[in-house]
Amino acid sequence: MTIVLPPGPRAPAAWQTIAWMARPAAFLRRVHESFGDPATIRTYWTEEPMVLFSAPDAVREIFRLDPAIAPAGQSWEFLRQFAGPYSILLLDGEQHLAERRLMQIPFHGERMRALAPIVAELAERELSTWSGRVVALERMRHLTLEIILRVVFGASGDHERAQLRDAIEGALATVRSLPWVLAMALVQRDLGPRSPWGRFRVAVEHFDALLFDLLARRREHPGDDSVLAMLLEQRDESGNGPTGRHVRDQLVALLVGGHDSSAASLAWAFERLARSPEVQARLREGDPAYLDAVVKEVLRARPALSIAPRRLLEPVRIAGRSLPADVQVAACIWLAMRREDLWSDAGAFSPQRWLEGSQPNPMSWIPFGGGVRRCAGAPFAEMEMREVLRAAADLTLRPVRREPERTKRSMLVLTPHRGAEVLVG
Ligand code: HEM
Repeated sequence: MTIVLPPGPRAPAAWQTIAWMARPAAFLRRVHESFGDPATIRTYWTEEPMVLFSAPDAVREIFRLDPAIAPAGQSWEFLRQFAGPYSILLLDGEQHLAERRLMQIPFHGERMRALAPIVAELAERELSTWSGRVVALERMRHLTLEIILRVVFGASGDHERAQLRDAIEGALATVRSLPWVLAMALVQRDLGPRSPWGRFRVAVEHFDALLFDLLARRREHPGDDSVLAMLLEQRDESGNGPTGRHVRDQLVALLVGGHDSSAASLAWAFERLARSPEVQARLREGDPAYLDAVVKEVLRARPALSIAPRRLLEPVRIAGRSLPADVQVAACIWLAMRREDLWSDAGAFSPQRWLEGSQPNPMSWIPFGGGVRRCAGAPFAEMEMREVLRAAADLTLRPVRREPERTKRSMLVLTPHRGAEVLVG
């Protein structure tokens, strides 16, 4: 018996892909209004149709799916060339859990708290340069990469950091640009160094050469307290250390997971704050609970990622609905946090909602996804946002234009379409 997929837009996949990339929030809102929950979309983003769910019970079921039946690694397949075969992003099952245990250690508890002063110092240095018109997204990309270079790569020398920064920006530039991504989706082959895939390959080769050089130097002179130093200390049961390739893939996973998503979330924070003078005034009072509420509300009202997808290898039932193999099923992060039946005045930016009344259903606040794939850097990301917003509390921010910035997609993340333009001072 053929299983019929939930309804969804009939427009061709090409059109849905353009809406998904250029106007993702408007697209998701329209799909939800027209077809309810669940709904099926078809884009070039994934080979298979994708069924979106946003009700808390369905979201919980998705996060609890057995990874043997519903792996998440395959959703990152398009990044394989950069992420590498040992990447936590691409693995599933036992191998994935083993990588995850290792990678989470520095981003939790005491170790993570010890990183906060470094993040605070870098944030204060960055924000002290702000005056006049600032495009927050550009500055936050710079800052979050600086944080990763220091904390993760342990790159302390100016020259070393500048070289790595250029190589990383080079590799990410292609996959951040909408025309290039569309070209890569259409022509799925490397047609030489000037073609989209060719440019990407050359940039990744350049990045790899620098990184392997850095690894060789760190093995010779170990001893800082970076995440890289910790990764190099890993030993398997036979006492063998990790290969360079393995450590390289772990570093790239942290880079891909932690750079653009944090920068986008912080850019949205500035976009919202500039339009909310009363929130800026409360932040200036320095109440840590209010700061935390602002971070939670930014992540709810303007999530950096729109979906947490899993690919079905076997038929399953979710929320009483049968789904066949060979479709993607996704907890729709954006919709779950925008549903009027789950959040009062869902479209409003209101940190106050976190300080009064009952806490939301945990399956309706899901900016970091969930289950065994939940963001490995979530506590670090929240700490990073708190430190940056604390450092920004003394600035007076105004929007360059009154109307809110709409949402566009940049590689995996949702960003303000003008990059969060603010006037400072
Ligand atoms: C506000 C910033 C961030 C947001 C909104 C965010 C969000 C997410 C989401 C939605 C996922 C997929 C979860 C799922 O499929 O259920 C994810 C995965 C991941 N994130 Fe984050 N993230 C952020 C920052 C970071 C940081 C700072 C790091 C590391 C330093 C990081 C590392 C990762 C990794 C390694 C994964 C893959 C986990 C796995 O597959 O097991 N993220 N993140």
